[in-house]
Amino acid sequence: MPASAVIHFPKGFLWGCATASHQVEGNNTNNNWYRWEQEGHTKHQSGLACDWWGGRWKEDMDRAAETFQNAHRFSVEWSRIQPLPDRWDESALERYRAMARGMTERGIAPMVTLHHFTDPLWLYDQCGWEDEAVVPLFEKYTRKVVEALKEYVTHWVTINEPNIYALSGYVAGDFPTCQASHKGMAAALRALANMLRGHAAAYHAIHQIQPEARVGYALHYRPMVAARPWFPPDLLMRNLQYSGINLAFPSALSSGVMKSPLGNVKIPQVKGLQDYLGINYYSVDTVKFDLGNPRELFGRRYFPEDSDFSATKFIANIPHGMYDSLAWAAKTYPNLPLIITENGVEDPADSLRPRYLAQHLQQVWRAVNFNFPVKGYYHWSLVDNFEWERGWTQRFGLWGLDVETQARLRRPSVDLYAEICRENGLSSDMVAKYAPEVSATMFPG
Ligand code: BGC
Repeated sequence: MPASAVIHFPKGFLWGCATASHQVEGNNTNNNWYRWEQEGHTKHQSGLACDWWGGRWKEDMDRAAETFQNAHRFSVEWSRIQPLPDRWDESALERYRAMARGMTERGIAPMVTLHHFTDPLWLYDQCGWEDEAVVPLFEKYTRKVVEALKEYVTHWVTINEPNIYALSGYVAGDFPTCQASHKGMAAALRALANMLRGHAAAYHAIHQIQPEARVGYALHYRPMVAARPWFPPDLLMRNLQYSGINLAFPSALSSGVMKSPLGNVKIPQVKGLQDYLGINYYSVDTVKFDLGNPRELFGRRYFPEDSDFSATKFIANIPHGMYDSLAWAAKTYPNLPLIITENGVEDPADSLRPRYLAQHLQQVWRAVNFNFPVKGYYHWSLVDNFEWERGWTQRFGLWGLDVETQARLRRPSVDLYAEICRENGLSSDMVAKYAPEVSATMFPG
């Protein structure tokens, strides 16, 4: 038997999981998602979620620490911190301080997201991100949070997946938008432009309070291929979808102009304002010209039939997309630190997750070997959590969750990830043990 091969990651690499307030806290009743759930737009309701607000973050952070994770990305909930335009809740801020402190005490470096899909009801009722009035409001909220948490936190994510927020709300209709009549690409672009302005304002505010801060945002990056590369309409659709979905924020950050298929918007103040790029990578889309889909500009995105699918076919396991995403980022922003702020798969049986994890990390390692400055990896997610419009139908946790009893179920992937975090590397022995089906392809010879 040949000796074990080990692929190593750079010293000081951040290993953790990512979560978001509404998905784990429970009893989050003052935001637009709660109302959206009450109105019956989601498969289930978030309810107690993982009961982090009730204090179960402590036991989950014990789990993370005991399995050698050294970082955790979580989000704070605007609607708890500022329940009304003229009211700040210091006790909510104190609770988040306790969480951040609790992580630090366990040897886990907290990274904080300021906005992860949810808006306070008072903001939502005035059409939130569609109106530029949100920008100074977001800045004020950011200042409050940073003042409260700066003792423990230096890594900040201003906004999670602005592109998915805009698309899922204004185009697909799966996420709440303040008025049904406001659907469509034009409203989506207005929201995106204001998110860019909000990011710029928050970037300066954070650095003013904490000069050593590292500030970025998390981009859902979606590599895409044309279904029939020789067929010009497919290629055209691929390019349109690719730039429409992926490039609005990145283009504004590199040039000060938000580029979109519907036209460009000048936002010069945002140019260059990122200390790292956060990448959420899940899968690669195949794109086809489809006359039947005018809502998405006649493009249809899908996964090929023979894909290595997740339980509900929401994700296809396409590891090279991880490398492609990092390569795109390194080329677009030379020398900018890159952090994988999310990557994971829904898999209640844990039959796919071990190989998904191992194969994706091998692609991260490939990127590291090309000297792309990758600084960390946050798995989505620690424990099964509330999956937005899809409710509890998808299970992304290393640990499973019994929603009725709050019991946690340790999946085999916990142990694989623990070994990886402890070794700061991935070995052929680990793959042979947890994902033997890909041993030969990952470690040939
Ligand atoms: C989001 C998470 C979500 C995950 C899996 C990402 O787009 O940031 O909130 O749970 O995907 O669906």
